[in-house]
Amino acid sequence: MSERDITTWKIIEEELGRPSIFRSRESLAPEYVPDTLPHREDELRQLAAAFKHLVINPGSFSQRILITGKVGTGKTVTARVFGRDFTRLARRKGFDIRYIHVNCHRNRTLHNVVSEMAKQLGLSIPLRGLSVKEIYDAILGFLEDNDVYAIVTLDEFHYFASIVGSDNVYFLVRTYDDSHYAVKRLNFIFISLDASSLNLLDPVTESYLLRNMIVLKPYTSRQLYDILKYRAKHAFYENVVDEDALKFIAEYEGVDTGGSGNARHALEILMLAGEAAENEGRGRITLEHVRAAIMKTSREIIDISDAILYSPLHELIVLLSIVRLLRRTGKPYVKIGDVEREYNIVCESLGLQPRRHTQVYEYVMNLKKAGIINARTSGKGQRGRTTLISIHYGPLDLLEKHVEDLISRRLGVVSP
Ligand SMILES: Nc1ncnc2c1ncn2[C@@H]1O[C@H](COP(=O)(O)OP(=O)(O)O)[C@@H](O)[C@H]1O
Ligand SMILES: [Mg+2]
Repeated sequence: MSERDITTWKIIEEELGRPSIFRSRESLAPEYVPDTLPHREDELRQLAAAFKHLVINPGSFSQRILITGKVGTGKTVTARVFGRDFTRLARRKGFDIRYIHVNCHRNRTLHNVVSEMAKQLGLSIPLRGLSVKEIYDAILGFLEDNDVYAIVTLDEFHYFASIVGSDNVYFLVRTYDDSHYAVKRLNFIFISLDASSLNLLDPVTESYLLRNMIVLKPYTSRQLYDILKYRAKHAFYENVVDEDALKFIAEYEGVDTGGSGNARHALEILMLAGEAAENEGRGRITLEHVRAAIMKTSREIIDISDAILYSPLHELIVLLSIVRLLRRTGKPYVKIGDVEREYNIVCESLGLQPRRHTQVYEYVMNLKKAGIINARTSGKGQRGRTTLISIHYGPLDLLEKHVEDLISRRLGVVSP
């Protein structure tokens, strides 16, 4: 073996032997279905109530439920968790209920949707060449012959409705309207971004679905914190992520704290922050890893460079002071008083006369309005009320450099 081979060998061996911070990276993937869903208990209960007849008086009617909510509010996962657990429980009671989940983005025609249903039910007939009607009849026949019931989720239904037209939607919605089957075995969950996809339907069906609508609200930062904590416990080894990092992501994404309440985005940030820490060979995820992840998942840093391009000089110096303090302290927030002190120091070093307190406060508010920083008044528990300032994107070292360059240009100094 040559010397070169030995070093290569060593590098690979070291890499393979390096402990990972991930206990289960896959469990953060968007398609992963977790054991439970914090903060979706009520919705799961509503679903259970809606499909209760399947184990009490099966076949008495065909239930149709509509789930709506913005992206990342847990529509897909709530339906899947419900389907998985409901069918398991029913099985224990001796009922054969199948859960079928069809994504209408992937299956864009009625034929594809119906074929997918047949496939997931395990129908052993060749579907090729069969018409929609023939496949559907085969499905209904299969359920009848085997004494099976099914809950079918049509995910991204708004998309389906918008491209296939009302006739095709009716085909599914009115399954039992003129069928000879007395026992109604097919039940539906329609998932849609909002209720507008119902426009296609007749008023009776529309009002029926509106009454059977479960609306998933965007998550608040506290809810996201619980979700992140729960998912992080599965994904990472102990002590890899601390509360601060999770709170930081939760506040960035929480609907009550200026985010969109999107759990998918929050989990993606956690995943990317974990990967960044792992790539650096670190055993912990820091706020800086989280900031870097946020930057990777959003275009905010690009957006703000436009926003600050025309900021007055002293506003930029205030921003620079905030960035430097956040970096130095490693904390999620800094107090406005500390920012002002830092601002005075920076002004001095640049040979500039600092602006007054009220003016500094106004700069902070402007930066907030432009979406460059977050600022809020400290709540109870803090001695005296103060304004807390944070920045949810990053990395801060790049941001600091960016702002320094702008200031140098403004002062007519060529930065090194
Ligand atoms: N309450 C929750 N608890 C745990 N994970 C959740 C919860 N809600 C959403 N998630 C996760 O967030 C991501 C987005 O959820 P998803 O169901 O795909 O949202 P939607 O279908 O509304 O766009 C998925 O990875 C999902 O597992
Ligand atoms: Mg979805």
